Amino acid sequence: MKYNFDEIIQRRNSNSYKWDSAKDNDVLPMWVADMDFRTAPAVIDALHRRVEHGVFGYTKVPVYYYQATIDWFNRRHNFTINKEWILFTSGVVPALSSVIKALTVPGDKVLVQTPVYNCFFSSIRNDECEMVANKLVYKEGTYSIDFDDLERKAADPRVKLMLLCSPHNPVGRVWKRGELERIGKICLQNNVIVISDEIHCDLVYEGYAHVPFASISEQFLQNSVTCIAPTKTFNLAGIQVANIIAADEEIRRKIDKALNVNEVCEINCFAVEALTAAYNEGEEWLEELKTYLYSNYEYLKDFFTKNLPHLPVTKLEATYLVWIDCRSLKQTSKEISEMLLNKEKLWINEGMMYGAAGEGFIRINIACPRSLLVEGLNRLKVLKQ
Ligand SMILES: Cc1ncc(COP(=O)(O)O)c(C=O)c1O
Repeated sequence: MKYNFDEIIQRRNSNSYKWDSAKDNDVLPMWVADMDFRTAPAVIDALHRRVEHGVFGYTKVPVYYYQATIDWFNRRHNFTINKEWILFTSGVVPALSSVIKALTVPGDKVLVQTPVYNCFFSSIRNDECEMVANKLVYKEGTYSIDFDDLERKAADPRVKLMLLCSPHNPVGRVWKRGELERIGKICLQNNVIVISDEIHCDLVYEGYAHVPFASISEQFLQNSVTCIAPTKTFNLAGIQVANIIAADEEIRRKIDKALNVNEVCEINCFAVEALTAAYNEGEEWLEELKTYLYSNYEYLKDFFTKNLPHLPVTKLEATYLVWIDCRSLKQTSKEISEMLLNKEKLWINEGMMYGAAGEGFIRINIACPRSLLVEGLNRLKVLKQ
């Protein structure tokens, strides 16, 4: 490997949300979704050059920022994006919140597939809408969609949007083209607009391919909004940048207005350079990162098979967030996570955060050097039967 993902970088006392939020210094954090790796060297070089300039005034987003985004999605995901469709903002959560504000009125309903990324719930609530859960079906260590339930729920005239998590956090699925086609058809039939959060689209493992929802057909493109960012892929969450792809002019106009109302219509000068360098020069680094992450997953799976066989590990098709079925422990996910934090000094996420469908599960972030993963896994041995 050209890049050293085994290197331990001290993140404690670096104002890291993940590392510096714990009360005790010996807590090992395997929770919030950022990585303990340095980003791609090309990104660091680009940021150095920007810092050297020394003037950090208001930023005009240049053509090369848009072009880097367009080229990346064309090259990596076979998705042709027109520059006019792109709206930039300071993160995918601000994007989702603004899109919901733009396309609903208070009291409207929004479909989500639970268990799902917890900020979906808060964004829906903050825009005074009601969440409707199309619960995913867990069977034999993986998840699928209950399409009959989706069809019934989408038929409610108060349901205006569906927030799709693609690939899915926390269940690790990469939705297949056929599954996305069925979702898209149901939503079209019921006048439900699909908001596709594709922030994890670059962290898809061998044997799986991310299909951008909007790339499937012209009808899906016009009936959807896609949220993308290089921040999970290249570990840039603190830089705060995301793009919204909205091909329909009227939808885009409403979102643009909501971004302005929410005052999240600016990005900073570092975001421009980081995104551009990542998309234009980060490909080789990303390929190695994915190999490393997947070998961490295999290590974890092997560890569970040998040491904790009563806790099934969900199949990981994408993301570095592993979803583990702890229901045989007969404890709530809150009890499990609190015990791990207080007794073992290991911070993982409790499944209930992702909705009631996550009860009894835990989520572990494996985007760390192997030695830290081993340390974390050893602290999990307390869950032995
Ligand atoms: C599905 C999903 N969307 C959005 C985010 C956060 O995006 P941002 O940091 O750009 O607001 C996350 C972070 O974990 C996520 O998993």
